[in-house]
Amino acid sequence: MATTFVMVKPDGVRRGLVGEVIRRMEQKGLRLKAMKLLQVSPELAAQHYAEHQDKPFYPELIAFITSGPSVPMVWEGREAVTVARTIMGATDPVKALPGTLRGDYGLAITENIVHGSDSDASAEREIGLYFAPHELV
Ligand code: GTP
Ligand code: MG
Repeated sequence: MATTFVMVKPDGVRRGLVGEVIRRMEQKGLRLKAMKLLQVSPELAAQHYAEHQDKPFYPELIAFITSGPSVPMVWEGREAVTVARTIMGATDPVKALPGTLRGDYGLAITENIVHGSDSDASAEREIGLYFAPHELV
């Protein structure tokens, strides 16, 4: 069964949207396999967002993702990567459609509430960054 990595970002935790993210994923039929609350370290943030290290927005992205507690999770289900990203909506909340998390709750591109893996390979890599194998239930 496919799995994906989803993380409620610090703005989502600050705004009390953890339950809303979980509710929408559960309601769709995805199954929760792992979850924790942690403050992402600069080292972990650099590993997570390595693909963006040369982008102009990288410093802002790292400062934001390390700014407070996040809630990383693993979700399982058919086409989990695609389904989770559909629930999240487009990266830029201005373009995210109503009915998606970013479309309903966001307006800023950096503070966009939630992260979701963009491929099966990314999901495997990101799950490995945040969880030990024995933490997947
Ligand atoms: P994540 O789930 O967070 O990985 O978002 P994504 O996969 O929808 O987008 P991407 O991986 O391309 O970018 C990672 C994060 O960098 C995004 O969530 C945004 O917060 C930020 N970002 C991406 N593109 C831009 C941009 O053009 N400008 C700014 N300021 N931030 C951006
Ligand atoms: Mg991404």
